[in-house]
Amino acid sequence: MNHARFILEFAVDRDAFDMEAYISRGGFMGLRQALARPPAKVIAEVKSSGLRGRGGAGFPTGVKWESVQRHKEPYVVANADEGEPGTFKDRYIMEHAPYLLIEGMTIAGYAVGARRGFIYIRGEYPAIAKGLIKAVEDARKHHFLGEKILGTDYSFDISLRMGGGSYVVGDETALLNSLMGNRGYPMMKPPYPTEEGLWGHPTLVNNVETLAYVPAVFTKGASWFTQIGPEHSPGLKLFCVSGDVHAPGLYELPMGVPLHELLEAAGGVKGRLKAVQIGGTAGPVYDDRALSFPLDYDSLRAEGGALGSGAVVVMNHTRNMAEFLEVTTRFFSEESCGQCFPCRYGTRQLEFMARNIMMGKGKEEYLDEMREIVTTMSVASFCPFGKSVALPVGNVLDLFGDEIRTFIAHQRYVKEAG
Ligand SMILES: Cc1cc2nc3c(=O)[nH]c(=O)nc-3n(C[C@H](O)[C@H](O)[C@H](O)COP(=O)(O)O)c2cc1C
Ligand code: SF4
Repeated sequence: MNHARFILEFAVDRDAFDMEAYISRGGFMGLRQALARPPAKVIAEVKSSGLRGRGGAGFPTGVKWESVQRHKEPYVVANADEGEPGTFKDRYIMEHAPYLLIEGMTIAGYAVGARRGFIYIRGEYPAIAKGLIKAVEDARKHHFLGEKILGTDYSFDISLRMGGGSYVVGDETALLNSLMGNRGYPMMKPPYPTEEGLWGHPTLVNNVETLAYVPAVFTKGASWFTQIGPEHSPGLKLFCVSGDVHAPGLYELPMGVPLHELLEAAGGVKGRLKAVQIGGTAGPVYDDRALSFPLDYDSLRAEGGALGSGAVVVMNHTRNMAEFLEVTTRFFSEESCGQCFPCRYGTRQLEFMARNIMMGKGKEEYLDEMREIVTTMSVASFCPFGKSVALPVGNVLDLFGDEIRTFIAHQRYVKEAG
C-alpha cells in the first residue's frame, strides 16, 4: 500500500533523542513557520487543516485552541496517560519521535499564549519519561524551549509529571485534578478545562498524537492535511492493531481507511474473524460486518461506536466470548475510580457474574441482569467511563448471547467448528 506518512517518517529506532538528526530531517521547521505568524493566524491554520483530537473524542483542535482565553495565563497539557488497552501509539511517538511532541506543544503554547506546559505521562512509562526529560533539556539548549524561543519574544517551557497507574486519569478533568495534586477524580463539565483548568486558569489539553501532527500543518500545509481522508475527518491516523493478525503493530494510514484494508496491512487475520473491538475497551464489539467500516470519527459514530484511540483488537474463531466478557468487566471493575455509586457497584456486579460464568457457575438470568446494570450505568454514572460500559458488554450480549447461553447450559466453553 502506497500512501502518505508523517509521524512514521520522523520515527526512528536509533538516535530518536538526537536533536541534530531530528533537525536534519526537517524537525522544528513547523515551529519556525508558526512563530513567523501572529498567534491568531496559527490557530486559523490549524482550524483550516481540519485536524481533530486523536485522544478519542475527535474534537476539532483549532476550535479548542481558539476557545482558550489568552489573557488569563493559560497552560498547555499533553495527555500522555495512554491507559487504553490495545493502545501504544503515544508511547511509540514518545520513544521514536519525541521532538514532534515538543514541537507541537510549543506551537500550541504560542497559539494560545501559554508560558508553561506539562506532559502528563502514565506511571507505567518510566523509561520513556527519562528520555523525554533529556529531550526537553536538549530542546532548551537549542533555544526551541525556554526564554525567547529562537530569538523571538515568546517564552515557553515544559515539565513532566508522572501518573500513578489509573486509567480514569486519562480523562482530562481527572488528569488536571491529579496534576494539581488532588485525587484523580473526574470533574463536572462545564466549566471546560479551556475556561477553567489548572489552578483555575484556562488549560488546553491535547493528546500526544494530536500534538505530533501539528508541525505537519505548518511544514506540509493545511491543504496537504485536508486532501487526505474524508472531508470531515481529514489527515492521517495511527492505528494500533493487536490480537489475531499475522503482523500486529502500529500503522499510519489515512483516516477513513476501511477496516479490511488496515487488517490486510497488518498481515491479515489468522483464521476466521469472529469479533473486533475498535476504539478501546469502552468501544463496541463488532462481528465481521465491521470489515467494510471506514475508520474515522463520523463513520464509526454512525455505527453506534467511536474511533476512540484507534486501537483495533482482533479476535478469531478460537476466541471464547465469555472470557472476553470476564476480562472486560474485570478491567472496568479494577479501574472504576469509585467516586459514584452506579459505576462503583455496577462494575463489581458485572465482574462477579462474568467470573461466575467462566468458573462454570453461571445462571441464565445473568444475561438480563447484566443488561439492566449497564442500562442503569449508562444513564446514572457520573463520567463517560461508567456510561461507556454499556457498549462492549451490551454488544457482546447482542452478538454472542447464544454462545454465552450455551456456555452456561454446559457450564463450560463449547468450541466452535472451523
Ligand atoms: C475514561 C477516559 C480515559 C481517557 N484516556 C485518555 C488517554 O489516555 N489519552 C488521551 O489523550 N485522552 C484520553 N481521554 C480523552 C481526554 O479526556 C481528552 O478528551 C483528550 O485528552 C483531549 O485531547 P484531544 O482533543 O487531542 O483528543 C480519556 C477520556 C476518558 C473519559
Ligand atoms: S463513572 Fe466510574 S470512573 Fe466515572 S466518576 Fe463514577 S465511579 Fe468514577
